[in-house]
Amino acid sequence: MQEQQGPNDRQIAVFISIAVGAIVAVITTATFYWIYELASGPERRAAAIAASAPYDLSNEVKRIVNAAPNQVPEGDNREVWMGAEAWQAGVQAGQDYIAQYPQPQNVQILSKMTTAQIWVYMQQYVSGALGVGCQYCHNINNFAADAYPQKISGRLMLLLVNDINANFIVNLPGWQNNYVQCATCHYGQPVNLPAWGPEFERLQQPIRVNVTPIDENGRVILNEADKPAELRGLVPLEEAILYKVFNYKVWAPYDPADPTSGRGTLAVTYEDDERRGPAQDQVNISQGAMNYMGWSIGQGCTYCHNSRNFYAYEETVPGNLPLQEYAVKRLKTQRMLLLTTWMAENWSRYNFIPKDIPVQGEGPLLVNQQYLKQYNGQYFAIPGCYTCHQGNAIPRAAINGSAVPEGDAGVSIFPPAIRGQ
Ligand code: HEC
Ligand code: HEC
Ligand code: HEC
Ligand code: HEC
Repeated sequence: MQEQQGPNDRQIAVFISIAVGAIVAVITTATFYWIYELASGPERRAAAIAASAPYDLSNEVKRIVNAAPNQVPEGDNREVWMGAEAWQAGVQAGQDYIAQYPQPQNVQILSKMTTAQIWVYMQQYVSGALGVGCQYCHNINNFAADAYPQKISGRLMLLLVNDINANFIVNLPGWQNNYVQCATCHYGQPVNLPAWGPEFERLQQPIRVNVTPIDENGRVILNEADKPAELRGLVPLEEAILYKVFNYKVWAPYDPADPTSGRGTLAVTYEDDERRGPAQDQVNISQGAMNYMGWSIGQGCTYCHNSRNFYAYEETVPGNLPLQEYAVKRLKTQRMLLLTTWMAENWSRYNFIPKDIPVQGEGPLLVNQQYLKQYNGQYFAIPGCYTCHQGNAIPRAAINGSAVPEGDAGVSIFPPAIRGQ
């Protein structure tokens, strides 16, 4: 008879292979985690820090408070694109102007550039970005003169580009070195830039919702009488969605230590009911905004969310590593929503050329894929996510810093004065 003193050989073999297997598994996991940490840990931590930075922009943005009214005068019939001959004439006149004035005579933004550098920049990155000739903005007999309202707009837009880069882009969590430039919004046309794409255009649901705007203390206004006139009663869903995209607030900036943080006016699970507003309409509007954003950047929900937990910034999901890639995208998206909100708030201060549309009512107009907001009784088109992104996660017409050469050429291609740094 065999004695039952200890495990037999087979049992030992099984035990050893299990033990070795477990050790190998632990080592493999640890190694992968270590590699993962090495590769993306610092970036994810930097993203968390960048995302929790305070959002108060009031001191940083170079606001223009008192710009003179900017209108196209009666009888100004200049074409947008005056043809190849006019283009040649403009470029040639620029060359003559350089010979006469090697240093520019009337620049407010593009300082520290020679006239020759400005000339190069103007051709491709201003005229080219808008698809217009020099004559659209200049009297080509004197490039220094502020002859046309389009030049004033162009100058204000240089300032706008710098403000956008400084306040929303270069400090984006996990920034990938892409900057905004004229072409990022204009895509080769001076006006009628679309704020949404075909999917949103097709939305047209016969749904009307109760929109709850936010007061200056970040509280939802529930009382009808206290709302702006255009938000009283029931509002078409599309208008409500865009209202939220252009009026976004972050309640609690992201803080890795606090699982309830990283939430704003599009959250549907925010614990403070009074801030969030009535549930069903808020869900409809929030989901509509998710669709609008997803369509604008050509991505589905999982680009920014864990599909098993839309609420979570990963810490609260067992087994997930802190701050996954999609959580970083979601933090970037909050910053982008703050950008659209800031543009809607400040657009009239940059004093662009108003749209030629008679005033129709109190609210904004949604026409020709444009969101026309009223300031002092005139309409202006506000850019949305789609204006820059046009169905791409990174706007195709953004300029990548690593592709800009150093020195003179870099200055001519992408002037330091508008990089926001
Ligand atoms: C969208 C409007 C716009 C278009 C189109 C445009 N420019 Fe300009 N240009 C400006 C603005 C605005 C300034 C002034 C920038 C500043 O204040 O920093 C300027 C300044 C200049 C200057 C410097 C003038 C000086 O001495 O102060 C030159 C030269 C110039 N542009 C040449 C050109 C040429 C050549 C073209 C066509 C290839 C062109 N621009 C197209 C808006 C435009
Ligand atoms: C954030 C998006 C954005 C950026 C960046 C931008 N623009 Fe614009 N721009 C607009 C919008 C929107 C309009 C209004 C279009 C409309 O009325 O249909 C506009 C209008 C203009 C106009 C007036 C056109 C007209 O006839 O009414 C000029 C000139 C102009 N932009 C020049 C520039 C220049 C030059 C740059 C780069 C320095 C620039 N823009 C960058 C969004 C942008
Ligand atoms: C481009 C990034 C992006 C995409 C794509 C996106 N979301 Fe979101 N989502 C966000 C952001 C940012 C928030 C946080 C909004 C807030 O707190 O104000 C959010 C919030 C939510 C919430 C509320 C979570 C909470 O805290 O209460 C739900 C639910 C949600 N999204 C569902 C979806 C669905 C479903 C889709 C696909 C149709 C989608 N999202 C696509 C960025 C995105
Ligand atoms: C003025 C132009 C502009 C507007 C408007 C804009 N974006 Fe962006 N967005 C950019 C640029 C430029 C980048 C690339 C920054 C970088 O290099 O990391 C970017 C990056 C992003 C990213 C990160 C993509 C990635 O893969 O890392 C997301 C997500 C995003 N935007 C969503 C949005 C949403 C949603 C809106 C509207 C609420 C919006 N953007 C409005 C210019 C814009």
